[in-house]
Order: sequence, then structure tokens, then C-alpha cells
Amino acid sequence: MLSNDLLIVTGVLVGSSGAILSYIICKAMNRSFISVVAGSFGTDSSSIGEAEEMGDYRKITAEKVAKQLQNSTSVIITLGYGMAMAQAQYPVAEITEKLRARGINVWFGIHPIAGRLPGHMNVLLAEAKVPYDVVLEMDEINEDFSDTDTVLVIGANDTVNPAALDDPHSPIAGMPVLEVWKAQNVIVFKRSMNTGYAGVQNPLFFKDNTLMLFGDAKESVEAILRAL
Ligand code: TAP
Repeated sequence: MLSNDLLIVTGVLVGSSGAILSYIICKAMNRSFISVVAGSFGTDSSSIGEAEEMGDYRKITAEKVAKQLQNSTSVIITLGYGMAMAQAQYPVAEITEKLRARGINVWFGIHPIAGRLPGHMNVLLAEAKVPYDVVLEMDEINEDFSDTDTVLVIGANDTVNPAALDDPHSPIAGMPVLEVWKAQNVIVFKRSMNTGYAGVQNPLFFKDNTLMLFGDAKESVEAILRAL
């Protein structure tokens, strides 16, 4: 290998790309590179509250979500790893088209580390042919949540966790997040009250303006589509 210049150049490119990628992820999570390499996530038991300890949560059905969407003038959709797992991007794109055709403003808010790869959500949305101009980065959209009627949180968890801003003891403290709880109504699509990648419970699920739509994200979005 060492006598082959091409392999050496390729190795250097792969190695430095990995280092640059790690740096970008650390920056998005507001963490130092050393603490990420040497530390671990979700080990502070004081802030990993069980769902029961955080209070009550309320459920909603797909039909009611459809009605809520029809009564909204502005909708923001935020996505996470669960949407990728469920492969829900195609029905999500169809809902977007349907709502926009009815004159409802629909935007997407993308967290830089949503999913498991940088750009994971952007790739899935592009694959489903969601127009680029309605897909905004976290910094571009965070100020708009307070003027939004309905936010759909589809398979996201850590990237919309208010504890990152409110709880200094949280393992994700200081990580910038999508401030979805500022909207009038928040609907969270997931299968259970389980935590996300960081292993941290999410106070968003227990807020007065949040409703939980349980089930596989693709099935839930398809059910909303049928109701629409
Ligand atoms: P997560 O916090 O990982 O949460 C994903 C949620 O999706 C889970 O709570 C899960 O809840 C739900 N889910 C899983 N499968 C589903 C399905 N089929 N239908 C509906 N819901 C489903 O996701 P996130 O908000 O995207 O955050 C990303 C996390 O990954 C961050 O902690 C980040 O640090 C980490 N990470 C990111 C990267 C990059 S570069 N993006 C790389 C490595 C790690 P249920 O089980 O209850 O359904």
C-alpha cells in the first residue's frame, strides 16, 4: 500500500474528511471535539427522567391531526431519525403538496444533526421531491415557530428537546435545538414514549400544547393523507 501513491492520497482524503465531519457535528452539538471522543452521552442519571415522572401526555388520532392541519394557516414540519426509519418521506411530500394546494403555508425545519448523518433529512426530502425553497435550516426557522399554528415533529426527539436549553444538568445541555414548543400546537409522531439517541426523556411531550400521535411514522402520515 505504501508504495502506491493513489492509495496514500485516497487514505489521506478519507481520514481528513472524517475529521472535518466530526468537527462539523461537534459544532452543531455545541460540544468540544475532545469531550465527544473521550466522553459519552446520556450518563447523567439526574436528568434522564422516566416518562411517568414528567407528568401526563395527551394523545391524538390521525383524523384529528388532519382537521387540525386544515384549520391551520401555517405549518412547520420537523423531521428526525424516526422518519428515516419509517421511510415516511413520500407521504410527507404528498401531504405538503396537498396543504400547499389549499393555500396553507408549509415549511420544513431541519436540524443540522437530525437523523444519523449530516444532511440525512435533506437527502430524504430531495428524494421525495419536496421543493428546496420550503426546506429551511434550524437557524433560519427558529424565530418563526412563535407565529406558527401547527408543528409536526415526525420521528424527531433529541433535536426538539427543550431540556437542551432549560436544564443545565441535561447531557444535551447547550445543544442548539428546534424551538418547536413556541408554536400554538405541536404534534409528535413516534411509536412510544421511548427516548432518542441521547437516552434523555423529552419534556416537550408533556407540554400543554403538545399532542402525541403514536404509531409508525409512515402509517400515521398515510392515515392523515387519507383523512385529508
Ligand atoms: P432521535 O433523538 O434519535 O429520536 C428518534 C425518534 O424516532 C425516537 O425517539 C423514536 O421513538 C422515533 N422512531 C424510531 N422509529 C420510528 C418509526 N418507525 N416511526 C415513528 N417514530 C420512530 O432523533 P433526532 O431528533 O433525529 O436526533 C438525532 C440524534 O442522533 C441526536 O442525538 C444526534 O446527536 C444523534 N446523532 C446524529 C448524527 C448525525 S450527524 N445526524 C450522527 C450520530 C448521532 P419511538 O421509539 O418511541 O418510536
